Amino acid sequence: MKSFVYQGYKFLVFEDVYYPSDDSFLLVENLIVSENDYVLDMGTGCGILAIIAGNTAKKVVGIDVSESAVINARMNVKLNKMEGRVEVRLGDLWSALKSNERFGLMLFNPPYLPIPEAEKKEDVMNMGILEKAWDGGKTGREIIDAFLAKFDDFLEDEGRVQMVLSSLSEIEKTLSYAEKKGFQFEKKAEKKFFFERLVLINLKKASGFNP
Ligand SMILES: C[S@@+](CC[C@H](N)C(=O)[O-])C[C@H]1O[C@@H](n2cnc3c(N)ncnc32)[C@H](O)[C@@H]1O
Repeated sequence: MKSFVYQGYKFLVFEDVYYPSDDSFLLVENLIVSENDYVLDMGTGCGILAIIAGNTAKKVVGIDVSESAVINARMNVKLNKMEGRVEVRLGDLWSALKSNERFGLMLFNPPYLPIPEAEKKEDVMNMGILEKAWDGGKTGREIIDAFLAKFDDFLEDEGRVQMVLSSLSEIEKTLSYAEKKGFQFEKKAEKKFFFERLVLINLKKASGFNP
């Protein structure tokens, strides 16, 4: 197990849980949370975004499909005495929510690496739960598209989304998908690497748009 301290909060990270990286920090460093927000942290991993957002927000719900991540995030919630503000649930995207739940802010640092089926088969013995943390399917977009298809069902009318996008999984496709659903985007931050560009976007309902 590894550990680190961020903004005075201590985090333990299991070997099979996503260790916060450039994408996580791009989002956490640019969080815009207000004290009235009911926040959803989709794919919470070790809970870093949920716990930092929980410092300000009214309440945060973190969701992860990995049992190990859920146990890990709950441990970090307890370690940082955030039990009253952060709740962690096990589930595949929206399955962990009640149909009437609505959020003022959604955070999502999705798994976005394209992992071809052939590659998985070659190395199937080594394909464990940790790979799920970055496995975005054949094109890198499977989880992103599933998120985009339904996020607005659980968003308050004035709600916002802060989401990390990568040049490895067709940034423009995400932006045009969101626009088609009546959302406008703003690029808030960017990090460039020799193999990838990470962009943090904020989404909110385009004003005056009636789908
Ligand atoms: C790139 S990691 C981000 C973890 C953490 N939010 C961070 O920023 O460090 C993506 C997370 O999404 C989770 N995940 C993958 N598929 C998911 C799904 N269908 N539903 C919920 N969580 C999922 C993974 O288990 C992983 O913890």
